[in-house]
Amino acid sequence: MNIEDLIRPNIKALKPYRAARHDFVSGVLLDANENSFGSAIDFNGIELNRYPDPYQKQLRLRLATLHGVELDNVFLGVGSDEVIDLLIRVFCEPALDSLMILDPTYGMYRVAAGINNVRVIPALLTDEFQIDVGAATSSFYPTTKMIFCCSPNNPTANLLRRTDVLTLCRNFPAIVVVDEAYIDFSEGESLGSMVNSVSNLVVLRTLSKAWGLAGIRLGYAVAHPLVISYLLKIKPPYNINALTSLEAMRALNERERVRQTAAKIIDERIHLAEALASIPYVIRVFPSDTNFLLVRCRHASSVFEQLTRRGIIVRDRSSEPKLEDCLRITVGTRAQNDLLINTMKELKP
Ligand SMILES: Cc1ncc(COP(=O)(O)O)c(C=O)c1O
Repeated sequence: MNIEDLIRPNIKALKPYRAARHDFVSGVLLDANENSFGSAIDFNGIELNRYPDPYQKQLRLRLATLHGVELDNVFLGVGSDEVIDLLIRVFCEPALDSLMILDPTYGMYRVAAGINNVRVIPALLTDEFQIDVGAATSSFYPTTKMIFCCSPNNPTANLLRRTDVLTLCRNFPAIVVVDEAYIDFSEGESLGSMVNSVSNLVVLRTLSKAWGLAGIRLGYAVAHPLVISYLLKIKPPYNINALTSLEAMRALNERERVRQTAAKIIDERIHLAEALASIPYVIRVFPSDTNFLLVRCRHASSVFEQLTRRGIIVRDRSSEPKLEDCLRITVGTRAQNDLLINTMKELKP
């Protein structure tokens, strides 16, 4: 498949903005209307008065190495949410094209499509929350430019079968986005290393979950160089700020710590799942490959409200297709989990 054919014509024709730091990063820099006298604050000697590197080469290279791919396979965004938005803008013509989501799934795909005036065509997952290739085929139209898969899926918590994702890549002339935000809590293997052989596959990752860095806002795409080149073409020139880049580089030295924390979260997930399953009004705790649990219980909205009144905040997902009476509960620390469990035991929904 020629993915160039999927790019919006105006994006192909676009002459991108050239910022000062695209051309020069050293010398007597009087080209960007920065403050030549320095910053209002001191930050470990970093020149915060300068705009950051628009190509973000150092950080992209580190992430590329992590995934066994090249620099030109990696694109950085202000969280994966920014990457989702930019991908839609590269491929979907507003008011004309559509994208497919596999419901129930992460709500931001629909919102980002809505902001861009792109129609959303949902195809339901199976009752086991796996990809229903038949349903996807029925929902695929000539205007469908992208398919969003989330694996492990939020909020159903399970990994999607890799073979099904690759079937979508093979069967459909569309970009298949696989959002792997939670993969570090699973036994699953990233699809990131396949992007050079499967040109319509885009893998999304984030530092917001296992890396515990939701506050610095860093997500990224691993994809074919052609897809990356168009994302680079349309991104805001300085989207990743200097502090985020710096802290991300520092965090990437801490892989072992991240692995250990993920292992602890998985242990807590098992503890929490067992305890919740013993509560009489809990109908089912679904298997989880993530740092949260999907829990079906009698009168979920009443449980949700009673917990909220006691200061314990979970997410009510009951209005999503196939998720009637389901709450999504993030795995907390042992103390937080025990407080939740004890509180839930006291409730009378
Ligand atoms: C599946 C999924 N993708 C992406 C995100 C957003 O990630 P980021 O913080 O990198 O924007 C979330 C956040 O909850 C998520 O659940």
